[in-house]
Amino acid sequence: MKPQIKNFDVTIIGAGAAGLMCAIEAAKRGRRVIVLEKADKVGKKILISGGGRCNFTNMYTTPENYISENPHFCKSALSRYTPWDFIALMESHGLNWTEKTLGQLFCDQKSTAVVKMLLDECSSAGVKILLACKIGTISKQSNTFFIDLALATKEKQVVQSQSLVLATGGPSIPRMGSTNFAIKLARQFSLNTIPFSAALVPFRFDKNERYNGIKELSGVSIFVELSTGNISFKESILFTHRGISGPAALQISSYWKPSSPIHINFFPDENALDWFQQQQQSHPLAKLKTVLSYKLPKRLAHKLCEIYLSKAAINKPLQQISPKQLEELAGQLTNWELIPSGTEGMRTAEVSLGGIDTNELSSKTFETKSVQGLYFIGEGVDVTGHLGGFNFQWAWASGWCAGQFA
Ligand code: FDA
Repeated sequence: MKPQIKNFDVTIIGAGAAGLMCAIEAAKRGRRVIVLEKADKVGKKILISGGGRCNFTNMYTTPENYISENPHFCKSALSRYTPWDFIALMESHGLNWTEKTLGQLFCDQKSTAVVKMLLDECSSAGVKILLACKIGTISKQSNTFFIDLALATKEKQVVQSQSLVLATGGPSIPRMGSTNFAIKLARQFSLNTIPFSAALVPFRFDKNERYNGIKELSGVSIFVELSTGNISFKESILFTHRGISGPAALQISSYWKPSSPIHINFFPDENALDWFQQQQQSHPLAKLKTVLSYKLPKRLAHKLCEIYLSKAAINKPLQQISPKQLEELAGQLTNWELIPSGTEGMRTAEVSLGGIDTNELSSKTFETKSVQGLYFIGEGVDVTGHLGGFNFQWAWASGWCAGQFA
């Protein structure tokens, strides 16, 4: 049987945050829009995000919160569609929000309400959404894209449209059906790409005897300054049975290069040596490890003392610790060097670095410069946000911009 041919103005592949936003905006301009999604429901990552409450944006979004080979590329979209635009959309649907910390906004009515809002907008703008469809060959002849489809019913269809928007995200958490489809399609059209790699992902310290002791710290959480190279973040870390997680570790992982060290400062907001000297004066008879346990979680304090001091020194009263020893200890605790053996990889990464090289795209329209009518948006573009709502803001902003032109 010959496949049915369906005509639209805009085909969007991927019904995630960026794809749905783009669909709404293009359809509001009167374009006939279809969204093709391989999963059996839309917005799966929105649904699981923020522990089910969707950290949908960050009030303090700036271009500095994004990593890209071209750090200027994101500026235009972020300034044209701001966190306040998305907040206004939410409020127009009666959704409320709460700032948790550091400008991170969460939806009071849970992630499902954010997805429902997007679907309601799609429905009133007349967007057609096809779920559980398998994309086959994609081709372009003169000004028209042809997308071969196999539907859940096994029926075959060809969708044809003037514009094709790739909103298939990145490959993080493959068990959710994430793919590197955007890169594959870009290559088909001879566009430059930057390989995807895991970001916002915990560190591992396996096969490394020096760090065996870290396992004993599993469950300990502490506010630190964590750095790699010249990048640092002041947030919490969490020791796990395999390594280090928590917000600061996830943030740093996006900048970390394999085999390079990370440094932990356990005194992020004060001078460690001053603190030790004050303790020496006020509690001269107390043991160092006891005093340090007032400052750091006890298990961590004891472990650090074991690593950096002789057994004798640990049990000595503070007054007997030499100024040199104190200085050395203060130095170690403000610059504890660890070399991760790796990260947990795409399996648990919250996002991916890399994607379509931004040099291939207009930062205003998100259309490729060399293939008229072909657009890339969202996580599939080489722009990756920090932890804290910045990735959704990128998805909304890039989707909104493409939706004005596609
Ligand atoms: P997204 O991945 O959302 O959507 C892509 C869509 O394309 C999916 O529906 C997918 O099924 C579909 N697709 C893929 N290949 C296809 C194909 N071949 N054919 C058809 N469809 C295809 N960010 C944030 O700002 N705040 C947060 O709280 C969180 N929390 C969070 C938790 C977890 C566990 C993860 C994994 C990620 C986050 N994120 C986040 C990151 C955020 O989810 C991510 O950056 C955005 O969802 C990216 O939006 P996109 O629309 O680009 O891709």
